[in-house]
Amino acid sequence: MCGIVGYYGKNEKKEIVIEGLRELEYRGYDSAGIAIMDKEELCHFKAVGKLSNLETKMSDFHSQGAGVAIGHTRWATHGKPTELNAHPHLGEYSFVVHNGIIENYKELKEQLQSQGASFVSQTDTEVIVHLFESHQNRLKNPFAAFEATIKELRGAYAILLITKAQSDTIFFAKHGSPMLLGFNTDEIFFASSDTAIIGKATEVYYLQDGQYGAIEGGAVKLFDTHGSKTFVRQKLSADKAMAQKEGYRFFMEKEIYEQSTVMGDTLMGRVMDNGIAFDEIDTTLLEGIEDIKICACGTSYHSAMVGAYLLERLAKIKTSVEIASEFRYKEPLLTPNTLFVTISQSGETADTLEALKMAKKAGLRSLSICNVDNSSIVRESDAAILTRAGIEKGVASTKAFATQVMVLWMFTLFVAKQRHTIDNEKLQQELSAILQTPTALKFNDTLHAKINRLSKRYLHGHGFFFIGRDIFYPLALEGALKLKEISYLHAEGYPAGEMKHGPIALADSELFTIALMPQTMQYEKIKSNVEELSARDATILAISPLPFELADDFIQTTHANHPMLEFFEMMVVTQLLALEVAIRLGNDVDMPRNLAKSVTVE
Ligand code: AGP
Repeated sequence: MCGIVGYYGKNEKKEIVIEGLRELEYRGYDSAGIAIMDKEELCHFKAVGKLSNLETKMSDFHSQGAGVAIGHTRWATHGKPTELNAHPHLGEYSFVVHNGIIENYKELKEQLQSQGASFVSQTDTEVIVHLFESHQNRLKNPFAAFEATIKELRGAYAILLITKAQSDTIFFAKHGSPMLLGFNTDEIFFASSDTAIIGKATEVYYLQDGQYGAIEGGAVKLFDTHGSKTFVRQKLSADKAMAQKEGYRFFMEKEIYEQSTVMGDTLMGRVMDNGIAFDEIDTTLLEGIEDIKICACGTSYHSAMVGAYLLERLAKIKTSVEIASEFRYKEPLLTPNTLFVTISQSGETADTLEALKMAKKAGLRSLSICNVDNSSIVRESDAAILTRAGIEKGVASTKAFATQVMVLWMFTLFVAKQRHTIDNEKLQQELSAILQTPTALKFNDTLHAKINRLSKRYLHGHGFFFIGRDIFYPLALEGALKLKEISYLHAEGYPAGEMKHGPIALADSELFTIALMPQTMQYEKIKSNVEELSARDATILAISPLPFELADDFIQTTHANHPMLEFFEMMVVTQLLALEVAIRLGNDVDMPRNLAKSVTVE
C-alpha cells in the first residue's frame, strides 16, 4: 500500500511532507523516510516504526529556501521493516520513493549488479534509483534517463525521484498505484491521496496510468506513451471529511466502490504462478495440524463460514466455525492439533480476543486474519495475515469483508497445496479466478442506478429473507446483516433449502425475498426453493445471471465461470441495496444507531 508525499516550493519542506505522511500513515507504518534537497545538499532521514519515530529523529533539522522533498511511509512487501529497506532509496546521487511492486526487479538487479551497482536493501524499489543513475551516467540528461528507466519497469508503481544531477526537479511516474499533483500559487505537491494535501493545495490533478514527467522550474512537464500531454486541474475541496469521501455521499458508498482496487492490494505479491505465497507465515504453521477452528463475530463470522466451505472442499481439512461470544462460555473441547484462526477487521473485538487467549492457553497454534497491523489480536496471535483493505470508516463493513473472504480463499489454496489435496489443473483454475476478482468487483453506474430505483419498493413490509446455498448462504447472512445494520429493517439470512422447514409460514406479498441464484452453484436447487416461495406470493428480488420469470424484480449478474466470482459480484449488489434503502429512509449510513466500529466490550 505505502503512502507517498512530494513537495516543490519554498516553505519548510520537512513540516509539509510529515504532515502529509501523517494523513497517509494508515497505508503503512512499518517505517518512514524523507529526502530533502537543501541548499544543493541531499539530506535524508529514515526510521523504523511509526512516523513519530521519524519526527523525533528529524527534530533538529530545518530546511531552508526553495527546493524539493519526497517522503514515504512504508508497508513492507519485499524485505523486512528495517531502516535499510525503508524509502527513500539512495543511489550515488539520487533518491527514490515508490508505492507498488516492480515485478521484473530481479532481472534488473542482476543486470545492474553486473555493471557494478551495489545494493543495500532487499527491496524491489532500489533497482529504480540504480537504473536511473546508470541511464543518467550514459545519457547525461536526467529527463531522458528517467524516461528510459520507466520504460524498463514492469509492474505497478507510483514513483517520485530527486537527483543532484538536476537538483530543483522532482521526476514522477504513475502506473497502477495512486498519485496526484496538487497546486497553489507557488507550490506543487504530490501525494498518494488528496487527504495529504487538503488545506495546502487549492487545485488537483489525478495522474492517469502511464503518465510520467517532471516539475522543472515550477512548471509541470507531463507525458504518456503518445508524447507530451496537457491536463486540466480541478478544484480541491478544503473540507477534509468531504474530500476523504471523494464525492461519495457516505464512506460506506466509497468503500463499496473501492473494493476492486483494495482487492489488488490484498493480492499483491501473494499470487504466484504455482500457488499462493504468504510472507507472513511459513509452512511450519500447519505441521501436525489435523483440523481448523475459525472464530469471529458479525461480518467476520460470515467470512469465516465461507472459509470453512472452501477449506473442507479444496484443502480437505475438517473446519469448524465459532461465534466468539458463544465459544468463550461453551467449555469447548480443544486439542493441540487444531489451528485456531481468528478473523477481525479491527483486531480489537473483545470477544474474539478473549476467545484467542483461551485457545492459546489450551496450547493451540493461532493465526489471525486482520485488517489492522499491530492490533491486539495480531499481537496475540502466533502468525497473522493482513487483509490490506485500508482504513474502513463506515461502521457497516464492506471492503473488509471482501478482503477477508479473499484471504481465506488464498489460505485455502495455500493449505491445499501443502496437503496435496489439489491437482495442478484445479489450482491453476483457482489462481486464474482469483486474479479476475478485482474485475468482478467493478460495477457501473447503470447497476447502481437500477438498485437505487428498485430500493424504493423495499422500504416497508414485514421482513426480508436473504436466501442462498453453499457459500451463498453466508453471503445471504451478510446481506441481511448489512441491511439491518443501516436500514433498521428486519432481515434474516437463511439457507434456501431450510425455508420449507418453518420460515416459509411467513410468506406473503409483504415478505421480501432476496434470492442469490448463482449459475455455477446448485442453480436448479435454489430455483426450486424460490419457486416454493413465489407460489406462496412472497415478493422476490432475484439476483442471477440467468433470467428468472417468477421474479418480481431482477438484477442480472455476469455469466462468470467460477462461484467465487459470482459471490463477489452478488456481494456488491447486496451492499448497494442496503445502502440505497438506508439512504431513502434518511439514516446515517456511516454511523448507524446503537453500533460502533470497534466492539471492545463483551
Ligand atoms: C459489520 O458490518 C459489523 N459492524 C460487525 O458485525 C463487525 O463485523 C463485528 O463487530 C466484528 O468486528 P471485527 O471484524 O472488527 O472483529
